[in-house]
Formats: sequence, structure tokens, C-alpha cells
Amino acid sequence: MAKQIQAIRGMKDILPRQTPLWQFLEDRVRSVLDRYGYAEIRIPVVEMTELFKRSIGEVTDIVEKEMYTFADRNGDSLTLRPEGTAGCVRAGLENGLIFNQTQRLWYQGPMFRHERPQQGRYRQFHQVGVETFGLAGPDIDLELILITARIWRELGLQGLELQLNTLGTAEERGHYRDRLVSYFQSRIDALDDDSRRRLEGNPLRILDSKNPDMAAVVGEAPTLMAHLGEASLQHFEQLRQGLDAARVSYVLNPRLVRGLDYYSRTVFEWVTGSLGAQGTVCAGGRYDGLVEQLGGKPTTAVGFAIGLERVIAMLESSDVTERLSRPDVYLVMLGEAAAREGMQLAERLRDALPALRLVCHCGGGGFKNQLKKADKSRARYALILGEDELVRNEIGFKPLRGEGEQQQLRMAHLQERLAQAIVRVNDD
Ligand code: HAM
Repeated sequence: MAKQIQAIRGMKDILPRQTPLWQFLEDRVRSVLDRYGYAEIRIPVVEMTELFKRSIGEVTDIVEKEMYTFADRNGDSLTLRPEGTAGCVRAGLENGLIFNQTQRLWYQGPMFRHERPQQGRYRQFHQVGVETFGLAGPDIDLELILITARIWRELGLQGLELQLNTLGTAEERGHYRDRLVSYFQSRIDALDDDSRRRLEGNPLRILDSKNPDMAAVVGEAPTLMAHLGEASLQHFEQLRQGLDAARVSYVLNPRLVRGLDYYSRTVFEWVTGSLGAQGTVCAGGRYDGLVEQLGGKPTTAVGFAIGLERVIAMLESSDVTERLSRPDVYLVMLGEAAAREGMQLAERLRDALPALRLVCHCGGGGFKNQLKKADKSRARYALILGEDELVRNEIGFKPLRGEGEQQQLRMAHLQERLAQAIVRVNDD
């Protein structure tokens, strides 16, 4: 036998038993974004490498070591998108969506980063991203956070913590950066190799160090908050007041600096303790300088992206999966006449009850055998249609999950009974 070819490390198949959960997640997120007036944009998976270098930053982990970059047949350097913000800005500029306008956009799809795969971290992963343009005030920052909070609520997710920080404007950060560099230089012996390397290109990232030996030197570092001007402080304060008024709780995390260079002012992450080391399920912030950096007129912007694999992992540990993938009813049909009539009945029920999840038994067989299949399907109810029922214009209605005895229903009452029985996620 020929040797089988394996999938690429860190790139996963999403199998039929998992897709109902993905569809549920995607539908819910899409519905929330639609209700807030956000429009979908679809952007290519591959872009010019230069786009990511100029936006994410040359001295970031993503650009330095994680991009899937290759030469096109005509020699252009292309990269599989590691994230969606850069492409969204590029598309917005190229199609005249940004200048002198406000936009509320979202996108969805696979992203690629050559990271070390582990639980919750993959080389191909999926994001839903949201980007807004031309809105300068903290009200839109608040709206984005309210959207994410609503998404968690509508998915039934609990235990997510909102972490918040502000990075100030590029200018304020520049001053702070100089202060930080001199501080770290004065403590150079306490820095690990990674941090020494970052001292040159990206000293703020040192604050994000996960190395416990670095905790003291990082803890005593000057804070950015002390270097912010009046306007940045006010922006942040207003956002915090808005969150308080909306009763969205958060923790201030002055260490939150993000791994991409384009941020200014507000940054936030939603973090869970339930997924181990890869606990950030959503991250975003303001990036007022990026549009100009990519060749447009100065335009304010703010957005976020949700890591779908991580949300799926949270949903998997709730009972949503179980409820999503099981049919409401399994139709058992005994004898030829019942089989014929049953298929038509099923079609009528599907017309009348679009939310009904109904599986018809196929392949004949006796009562015991069919009921076994019904049970295996994990349906909540079996409908039983035999010769007797046909004659009496009735149908057997049998709970399969220990919710009472079998009843004989008048055919005319079936639809109403099923409508009551359809239980959807979050309805019960
Ligand atoms: P990011 O923090 O690089 O931000 O990624 C956003 C989210 O994508 C992360 O919080 C995580 O849930 C998920 N994610 C990232 N890398 C992986 C991976 N290797 N495997 C699984 N999930 C992953 C951005 O991408 C920005 N573009 C977000 C943004 C939009 N900021 C403003 N607008």
C-alpha cells in the first residue's frame, strides 16, 4: 500500500462531528455583528510580504519568525496572512472605503503563523475580526467591547476576564520608550537574552516577558501611564466610565502591550483560565497610525479579533456540543405503507417547523432494530408510525431520554407537540 500523506503539523481538519459547533459559533457571531450594523468584507488569504512588515512591525515575533513567506513564480515575495487587520486596511484603501468615511467591517477566515503548535495554538487557525475606521472617540472602543461581551453572553460562555490597558499615542510611547531603554540599560545584567535582543528593536515587549526571573526588573520598570498626555488619559477615562455604566467589569493590566506594533491608546484582551497557557480568546485595540503608515490619509481605527479555535475549546467543555448535534426526533416506520407515508409526513413537518431536526429511518428492519438506531442517533424522541397508527390516523410519540411514557397522538396534534418539543441551545 502506498504511504499515506499526513496533514501539515499545526493544521487541523475540522471533522463532521465538530462542524455543527463551528456553524453555531459562526452564526451567533455573524448575527451579533449584523445587529450592530457591521458589514462583512472578504479579503485574500495571501498578500505582499511588505504589507505585514510595514504594519505588524519588523521586530515582532510574527514578522521575524512566524510568517509563511514564499516567492511567487514571478519572484514577488508573498505571505499567507498571519492576521486580518493589515489586509483589511489595504483593501479599504485600495477600494476607497476609508477616506472621509466611517466604516464598521468584519471578516472571517484562516490565518497562518509558524508557531510551535500546542493546545490552543495552531499554524492554521481561524479568526473573526472586526475593524472600524474614521471614529476617533472612546464610544467606538466601548461599542467593540460591548459587542464582544454580547458574543460571550449569547454563546453561553462564562469565566472570561476583560483586561484593559492604554498605550498612548505614538509620540507619547516614543518618550516612554526612551525612558524604558535607559531603565533597562541600567539593569542590563538582570535581562535574559530575549529581552536584550528586544531592547534594541521593541523594548515595550520586554514588559510582556513570561520569564519568572525577569519579574522583579519588569515590576520596577517605569509605567507608561505616567507618560501619557491629557487627551490620552481622558480617552481612557471615558472608556472606563462607559464600561462601568454598562456594568462590564475589567482589570487594568499595565503589562498588556500586544505583540503587534500598530496599536495606540486602547488595547484589550479577553482571557480565560480554563484553556491553559493559551487563554486569550480575543484581542484588539486602537491603531490610529496604521492607515497613514500604509499610504492613506491619517484615519483613526480600532478593532479586535476572536480566535475561533479557542472559543470552540470553551464551547466543547460546556454541554452545547451535545445539544447541537443531536436530532430532535427520529422517525420509525414499520411496513411499506408507513414507510411511504412517513417520508411525506416528514417533508410536511420540515415545511411547517423549519427549526425541527428530524431524521427518517432508512433501510427498513423491525421495530427493535429501528428503535435501537433511534437511540443511537441521540434523538430526544422517536416517532413511531406503523400500520395500526396509519389506520387510526395517529402516531406514537416516545421520549428516548427518560422523559415519561410513550403516548399515542392524533396526527392533527403532532405538529403542535413537536413545536413544544424542539429545544434549541440557550432556549432551555
Ligand atoms: P492577535 O492577538 O495576534 O491579534 O490574535 C487575535 C487572537 O487570535 C488571539 O487572541 C488568539 O485568540 C487567536 N490566535 C492568535 N494566534 C493563534 C494561533 N497560533 N493559534 C490559535 N489562535 C490564535 C490580531 O491578530 C489582531 N489583528 C487583532 C486586531 C484586529 N486588532 C485590531 N484589529
